Amino acid sequence: MSGEDKERVCVTGAGGYIASWLVKYLLLKGYMVHGTVRDPCDEKNAHLKKLEGASENLQLFKTDLLDYEALCAAMAGCTGVFHVACPVPVGKVQLIEPAVVGTKNVLNSCVKAKVKRVVVVSSIGAVMLNPNWPKGQVMDEECWSDEEFCKATENYYCLAKTIAEIQALEYAKRGELDIVTVCPSIVIGPMLQPTINTSSLLLLGFLKDRTEPLEDEDRPLVDVRDVVDAILLIYEKPEAKGRYICTSFTIRMQALAEKIKSMYPNYDYSKSFTKVDEELRLSSGKLQNLGWKYRPLEESIRDSVKNYEEAGILHKE
Ligand SMILES: NC(=O)c1ccc[n+]([C@@H]2O[C@H](COP(=O)([O-])OP(=O)(O)OC[C@H]3O[C@@H](n4cnc5c(N)ncnc54)[C@H](OP(=O)(O)O)[C@@H]3O)[C@@H](O)[C@H]2O)c1
Repeated sequence: MSGEDKERVCVTGAGGYIASWLVKYLLLKGYMVHGTVRDPCDEKNAHLKKLEGASENLQLFKTDLLDYEALCAAMAGCTGVFHVACPVPVGKVQLIEPAVVGTKNVLNSCVKAKVKRVVVVSSIGAVMLNPNWPKGQVMDEECWSDEEFCKATENYYCLAKTIAEIQALEYAKRGELDIVTVCPSIVIGPMLQPTINTSSLLLLGFLKDRTEPLEDEDRPLVDVRDVVDAILLIYEKPEAKGRYICTSFTIRMQALAEKIKSMYPNYDYSKSFTKVDEELRLSSGKLQNLGWKYRPLEESIRDSVKNYEEAGILHKE
């Protein structure tokens, strides 16, 4: 198939953790990919140009989420858009502008380019912060984080993701765009990009010396490659509608530490945990009904550790 005949799609924030895997899989599937990055010449995006098929089928566009005109240039000619870009901060950082105004700019540029389907990457952060959800009841796509609760607890990331996802689904309700959202839980697994993203710090934190006690909370996890499978499934299945929770395992922090320790006994592990009573129950049933499958947790841990060792982030014991 010549370049002109291939389906053209755009990925925002192409150099990020999830987006890099998405670009890789799209290229392998034969799509022509437009990737938006803030700086195409920055070394942190160099890995994209080395992906299989990138030299012929990947075009990078210098674009900030707050620059509507630049976004329009990146979307032009695309039938599909994957809106992945959003700052993922450590701690209580205000990010309403890039998340909410950025999403609005992306969606308006999709309307202008007459894009056929948009997949917006939201987060479990737009699902879980809901103090009114009945205790013990499994959280599904009906559950939304409570904006007032997010503000009161200064959880600006969850607030921004909630407002951005509601806003995205309103475009779909108004019939302006065919939009589907996906809400991944904490994403783990090997990195393609050279800089360490926020969620990869979770596993790394277990493998490096940690002196402060860790809360023994339930944490929902999913492998980055399974997230990308979900995004592609949602994009390619016309019957996909609304939002999809994407999570594989919920595990207590201490149990996760013990699992990693049983696989890699020589690293220096988190030693103390404080007890937390709350239980987290989340379901990806809707996504599984669409045909989504996920890999075993041990595989994600094994591939992550191998990746950290090869990248020199962890030193083989
Ligand atoms: N990782 C997780 O555990 C997780 C879980 C649920 C949902 N998500 C969602 O998944 C998406 C990707 O997350 P990730 O983990 O892959 O994070 P990441 O590696 O930090 O990637 C975030 C990307 O967003 C871009 N970005 C941030 N602000 C921007 C702006 N103003 N204009 C243009 N680009 C901007 C970044 O570009 P620069 O490199 O230029 O900064 C980067 O490419 C986000 O929407 C996040 O909310 C992630």
